[in-house]
Amino acid sequence: MKKLIKGGTIVTAADIYKGDILIEDERITAIGAQLQSSDAEVIDAEGLYVFPGGIDPHTHLDMPFGGTTTKDDFETGTIAAAFGGTTTVIDFCLTSKGAPLSDAVQTWHAKSKDRAVIDYSFHLMISETNDEVLAELPEIIEKEGITSLKVFMAYKNVFQADDGTLYRTLLSAKKHGALVMVHAENGDVIDYLITEALAEGNTDPIYHARTRPPELEGEATGRAAKLAALADSQLYVVHVTCEQAVRQIAEARSKGFRVYGETCPQYLVLDESYLEKPDFEGAKYVWSPPLRKPENQDVLWNALKSGELQTVGSDQCSFDFKGQKELGRGDFSKIPNGGPTIEDRFTILYSEGVRKGRLSLNQFVDVIATQSAKLFGLFPRKGTIAVGSDADLVLFDPNAERTISVANHHLAVDYSAFEGMKVTGEPVSVLSRGQFVIRDKQFVGKAGSGQYLRRNRFAASEPPAPESRTISASR
Ligand code: URP
Ligand code: ZN
Ligand code: ZN
Ligand code: ZN
Repeated sequence: MKKLIKGGTIVTAADIYKGDILIEDERITAIGAQLQSSDAEVIDAEGLYVFPGGIDPHTHLDMPFGGTTTKDDFETGTIAAAFGGTTTVIDFCLTSKGAPLSDAVQTWHAKSKDRAVIDYSFHLMISETNDEVLAELPEIIEKEGITSLKVFMAYKNVFQADDGTLYRTLLSAKKHGALVMVHAENGDVIDYLITEALAEGNTDPIYHARTRPPELEGEATGRAAKLAALADSQLYVVHVTCEQAVRQIAEARSKGFRVYGETCPQYLVLDESYLEKPDFEGAKYVWSPPLRKPENQDVLWNALKSGELQTVGSDQCSFDFKGQKELGRGDFSKIPNGGPTIEDRFTILYSEGVRKGRLSLNQFVDVIATQSAKLFGLFPRKGTIAVGSDADLVLFDPNAERTISVANHHLAVDYSAFEGMKVTGEPVSVLSRGQFVIRDKQFVGKAGSGQYLRRNRFAASEPPAPESRTISASR
């Protein structure tokens, strides 16, 4: 079945132009002015932007954490993502010490199979680098196409790995063409500060922020960047929140090291004061790293604009206020960390970024889709609008106005992190590999229609010689 999207304004990370897009089956087969096709369904995109589908490089769907499990899973989470203009998510596959990596990957396949409504892939957590793990890793990278590895430098006694583990992971990633991702906070010092705060009777949500100061994010970011440089490897710092961390990434990049950074919508538009909301409502805003003082927001926007930070991930990780966040009443350290962000990432970046003049349209597409496709081995199959690319497209009304609210979102969780925020711009229709998932703001997709994506190896910084270059993700 063919589709012809007519009259839209096509926006990629490089171009803006009016044109028509012909889709045959799953892919874009022609782009041009006044395209004709006798047997295609014509979709009118006059007055709309046509963006590549958003790529969310950072989600936690159906993830156990702090004695509970995220409210949103691969079905509700990807439906909400699609409503918000995202057509690919890369979720974090958690591993357990002492168990084969492949067990964890199979667990994540079981969580997502027959549930996701858009395409998805996995990053793999590494918490130890013993002989078994190092032996298994190349096979996982090859067979599963999992070309990004995650190391936590925080969450002591839960996920945290030591520096030796990070360093060996960086070495292995260099050898096998993977990108190492870090949650960069100094977990040992945070652990001490939490113990001290609780001993002094400081149990409210605001102490989550006070025990995780930005210096400890900057310190860990700098340490990870230096280890990446020493290993001559590549590093991606997830959820960057503050000036101290941005500075470390910028410094490493200015020296030519392959260090990349991601921020998230919550750090761009919310601040630490939300943690002080009365009646324990501050718990809704507990993320790690925490929300920061407002002056960090300009630093993050400027870093996205200048290219010091490359991507925006949602860090979707939702827990109900009732029954889940409440586990931390009387002890902020027991509040499950994370919030619902997958649906609003795309529109917040457009509304607060493009409409407010902080990002150009091309920069918006770059940070919301293209850079993630390049860094995580999906480009040019995903992340752009080109002949041969998957027809993952967002038809976007740039003038629609609405108010974000739990009353109209599509997640299962019982609150919105951005309640009451007025935004301009909204996805009208969203296609995943040529099929409508959202049509005229209605969900028309199907659980299980999302495909697992095997990704190419890391090659974003310097393209290898032409003969060895792979130009599309394996299908
Ligand atoms: O608070 C957060 N960010 N929760 C999700 C887990 C993580 O650290 O990314
Ligand atoms: Zn598999
Ligand atoms: Zn994290
Ligand atoms: Zn996360």
